[in-house]
Amino acid sequence: MTQAAPHQRDLAGESWDPGQYLKFSDHRLRPALDLMGRIPLENPEAVFDLGCGSGNVTRLLADRWPDADVAGMDNSPEMLAQAASTASRVRWLEGDLADWQPDRTPSILYSNAVIQWVPDHHELVPRIWEMLPSGGCLAVQAPLSWDMRSHQLMRETLDNGGAGGETIGSTELRTAVGNRWVQDPDFYYDMLAPDADHLDVWTTEYQHVLTGDDAVLEWVTGTGLRPILNGLEDGEREVYLDEYRRRLNNEYPKRADGVTLYPFRRLFFVAVRK
Ligand SMILES: C[S@@+](CC[C@H](N)C(=O)[O-])C[C@H]1O[C@@H](n2cnc3c(N)ncnc32)[C@H](O)[C@@H]1O
Repeated sequence: MTQAAPHQRDLAGESWDPGQYLKFSDHRLRPALDLMGRIPLENPEAVFDLGCGSGNVTRLLADRWPDADVAGMDNSPEMLAQAASTASRVRWLEGDLADWQPDRTPSILYSNAVIQWVPDHHELVPRIWEMLPSGGCLAVQAPLSWDMRSHQLMRETLDNGGAGGETIGSTELRTAVGNRWVQDPDFYYDMLAPDADHLDVWTTEYQHVLTGDDAVLEWVTGTGLRPILNGLEDGEREVYLDEYRRRLNNEYPKRADGVTLYPFRRLFFVAVRK
């Protein structure tokens, strides 16, 4: 059977597992709230949560702006089903951010932990920015994980994690996971500044305090490791996971009190159009 390239499978929203992602919902909520807290609009009419996932954050957007029409869009039917299973006034919309168009003029386009799954930010960011009218706000958070040891080890283990130091998986897989999609902060600043009235770009490194065995592996299994797990054959996946787990546990040892500290850097930008 021909398999789609790993990144395409992810872009199609395949195999998002709401349960795995929600295991860490407390840690993942904090950046979402930090982003929401910097949006300077008082009375938006229409708020869209782009890549809303299981809708936890979308419902908070609806609470913050009770008079706004609030919609959550996502390309994963599993995530949208989970979102719709909790009663709320939010509209749930299926769509792919790569070509999505809003069904009404947005006041706020909010996106937490999504654009790292969407390629070509040269095209994506100006396109969604231009959907906003004057006074509209774009608010985005994305992990800056490319240079983190956990993510370097992900790629290195594909390159040399076999029992004799050989590569694991296909060339296509290694090429796909070698694409860096989230850029440095100045890339987004330069793109937005010419048409922004207000522009706030910042990074934060959180120290996530994780519990349990293989804590960092558990964390990345819900997000960044998915393209690799989806792209490996069954036998390869076990070899890869054994070696990646070993390397991760060396890099992020459990502390005396049993917790694992996981430093995680994130990029934020909030821009209001002139
Ligand atoms: C890490 S989760 C974040 C969910 C939510 N924003 C939150 O903060 O909890 C990433 C979400 O992005 C969605 N996603 C990934 N690629 C997408 C795309 N091209 N278009 C729309 N949604 C996408 C996934 O289905 C998933 O629900």
